[in-house]
Amino acid sequence: MRLLVLGGTRFLGRHVVEDALRRGHAVTTFSRGRTVTPWPDRVLALVGDRDPRVAPGLSALAGAGTRGFDAVVDCSGYVPRVVDASASLLAQGVRRYVFVSSVSVYADLSRAGADESAPVATLADPATEDILPHYGALKAACEAAVSRVYGGRTTIVRPGLIVGPFDATDRFGYWVARFVHPELLGDRDARAVVPAPPERALQFVDVRDLAAFLVELVERDVGGTFNAASPQGRFTMGELIATLVDVAGAAAPAPVWLDEARLAAAGVEPWVGLPLWLPAAEPDHAGMMVVNCARAEAAGLATRELADTVIATAGWLAARDNAGAWRHVLGAALERELASA
Ligand SMILES: NC(=O)c1ccc[n+]([C@@H]2O[C@H](COP(=O)([O-])OP(=O)(O)OC[C@H]3O[C@@H](n4cnc5c(N)ncnc54)[C@H](OP(=O)(O)O)[C@@H]3O)[C@@H](O)[C@H]2O)c1
Repeated sequence: MRLLVLGGTRFLGRHVVEDALRRGHAVTTFSRGRTVTPWPDRVLALVGDRDPRVAPGLSALAGAGTRGFDAVVDCSGYVPRVVDASASLLAQGVRRYVFVSSVSVYADLSRAGADESAPVATLADPATEDILPHYGALKAACEAAVSRVYGGRTTIVRPGLIVGPFDATDRFGYWVARFVHPELLGDRDARAVVPAPPERALQFVDVRDLAAFLVELVERDVGGTFNAASPQGRFTMGELIATLVDVAGAAAPAPVWLDEARLAAAGVEPWVGLPLWLPAAEPDHAGMMVVNCARAEAAGLATRELADTVIATAGWLAARDNAGAWRHVLGAALERELASA
């Protein structure tokens, strides 16, 4: 199969390329070339900008019809005008266009169990291209742009939190670093603050499982829309911490479970200071980690053992340059104070 990955050099796209190469597919990537391609000899790396208004735009793709891609995996679409440009340019000949969206498209994530039929957010100003405040509604508009061009040849995948090697966001990685490689976070206490309760539901998808799912959908030419994360209720904060302690072994810090009111009173910022923590006091996000992913599971999305994800992430964190990371997570001094009190 001749596969075009829009993006493909940073995190999810990178794993999609690796998975596709492993399965013997011919892969082309399209990016601005800011990240050096990890496979200079094995992938055709086209350089340009997805935004036709930014030179050189899509010119490297202009002959794409004659290149004869069988399928496109779009990992880097955030603005409908921009997504429409490449979708339209590539429409002729491409059998399937897979758009990587997000569970953030849902208009109401205050309740558990959103499935693919739940209403998506809409833009008050359809012309806005301001991604940060309108991420979910813009992704929904991108989905619609792809569907307009490809109809039944469209596949929409809406991942939850994506975790694993090359995730540079300090989210899941914070917990792995805190327990398995605390030295990466500076001089840390032997006790690690964790948000109670241990029964807190967590939902994420290992990037390698997601990449395999995306490539398999293309191989099997499967259309439709799929939430893509671990099965609802599969993981909890308690299980994550137990796995981290297990992987860390004798050197593991002791978890100190603190209730949400205490963390809030100390000014710890949810999701950022302590990643994966969405307080019950903020009900708007209560359903974010309990999305219904049954359709993807039935279509072949696998969920590997949590320890595998932890070990792979720990290996990557230890090997990468950590300078510049961990700027916004709970600092060592406040953590020590909270753990001692
Ligand atoms: N991370 C999560 O937890 C999460 C959750 C749900 C959904 N998602 C979605 O999953 C996808 C993950 O993306 P990723 O960053 O991991 O994918 P990726 O394909 O590995 O990296 C992004 C790629 O896009 C390229 N790129 C960025 N802007 C570009 C532009 N204007 N023109 C051409 N190429 C451009 C980058 O290279 P250059 O910089 O060199 O151009 C890079 O190759 C996104 O669609 C995101 O919305 C993520």
